[in-house]
Amino acid sequence: MRVTLKLATSLDGRIATASGESRWITGEAAREQVHRLRALHQSVLVGIATAIADDPQLTVRMPGFFGPQPLRVVLDSRQRLPSESHLVREAKRLPTLVLTTTVPDKGLTDAGVTVVRVAEQEGWPDLRESLAVVARHQAALSSQGLAPVQAGTDAPSSALLIEGGGQVAASFLKAGLVDAIEWFRAPMVLGNEGRPAVGDLALGRLAEAPRFRRVAVHELGDDLWERYERL
Ligand SMILES: NC(=O)c1ccc[n+]([C@@H]2O[C@H](COP(=O)([O-])OP(=O)(O)OC[C@H]3O[C@@H](n4cnc5c(N)ncnc54)[C@H](OP(=O)(O)O)[C@@H]3O)[C@@H](O)[C@H]2O)c1
Repeated sequence: MRVTLKLATSLDGRIATASGESRWITGEAAREQVHRLRALHQSVLVGIATAIADDPQLTVRMPGFFGPQPLRVVLDSRQRLPSESHLVREAKRLPTLVLTTTVPDKGLTDAGVTVVRVAEQEGWPDLRESLAVVARHQAALSSQGLAPVQAGTDAPSSALLIEGGGQVAASFLKAGLVDAIEWFRAPMVLGNEGRPAVGDLALGRLAEAPRFRRVAVHELGDDLWERYERL
């Protein structure tokens, strides 16, 4: 599966203030582009801290889009996803998957959320197994015509968009699982106390840093959209 990391940051690579406020760092044109990106992916994933802080819908909302919505995925070891969140409230209508390391919670499954327990790695759901579970669910939805498809393009039929936050971004980068980065950068500075776009990577040497090649840069209003592919 192709994995793309989307980041919407300040100039200094922060995704939220220290208090967790992140709406909106980037402008409208960048946000519209994120909806287009979602429509090109079969799944969209966030960490539980983002699900709690932002209460996102993780849906494609743009004029002229009537296709199936991407599978919404949350990495949530202890199933803290609130029952009143958009993700849970709409789970009977929109496919929603929680990857956890604990026994599936009946409250979530009754609400229509698919909860899958995977092996634990360093206290969190194992990422490779998680990707395999996502791929399986994507394939099942695709076979029922319930996943986004890009007719006539060479886009991969199995693609995941990671939409944060910083800890989840760091985990995927550390594991070498990020194929591409879509980086939206707004002309503001949030300082060292802001939440980092990428959490700790525990790098000892520069040679260990994940490296990417820039393939495009676009201006979107006041923001920049930089596109990277893994080297
Ligand atoms: N600017 C933007 O576009 C944007 C986008 C997204 C988020 N944000 C902001 O970012 C903040 C949240 O980011 P964050 O870095 O604090 O948290 P996060 O990455 O959203 O979530 C981290 C949590 O996810 C769970 N998790 C499960 N598996 C994991 C894994 N393999 N790797 C990492 N975490 C895993 C862990 O909780 P458990 O141990 O309970 O499982 C962990 O504490 C919020 O303030 C939000 O507003 C901004």
